[in-house]
Amino acid sequence: ATVRYEAENAPAVCEGAIESNHTGYSGSGFCNSTNAVGAAAQFTVNAASGGTATLAIRYAHGGTDTRSANIVVNGTQVESASAFAATGAWTTWTTKTVTVPVNAGSNTVRIEASTAAGLANIDYVELADGAPAQTGAI
Ligand code: GCU
Ligand code: CA
Repeated sequence: ATVRYEAENAPAVCEGAIESNHTGYSGSGFCNSTNAVGAAAQFTVNAASGGTATLAIRYAHGGTDTRSANIVVNGTQVESASAFAATGAWTTWTTKTVTVPVNAGSNTVRIEASTAAGLANIDYVELADGAPAQTGAI
């Protein structure tokens, strides 16, 4: 199934501020990380089984630089200085996908700024674990 995890909903952690001043986000806001190396948006995501899953990260970046982030899953860095290209406006959101290793059950995903510019604004992540969608109880 594909499940969305909003940056503003605990147990997600935004090392910075949840803001809502740029439209187009999902839910009630997005994470504007602190402008510092290591500042992160952290998510707790669930996978039906262990293996690899696809993580989609929705973000906006209205600056002219390329922001970059390390992607750390369960404490292991799986991408180093992964690029978050400019989207043209802070109200223009796009999705970047990353293949990540997951354990069955709960997993911690940290998107951690690798430069002092901080992260792009992060709206949510969606984890697609390849398992069939849950239907109602039968
Ligand atoms: C602006 C923008 C923020 C963004 C910041 C940045 O201040 O309003 O949403 O996070 O630039 O460059 O990181
Ligand atoms: Ca910022």
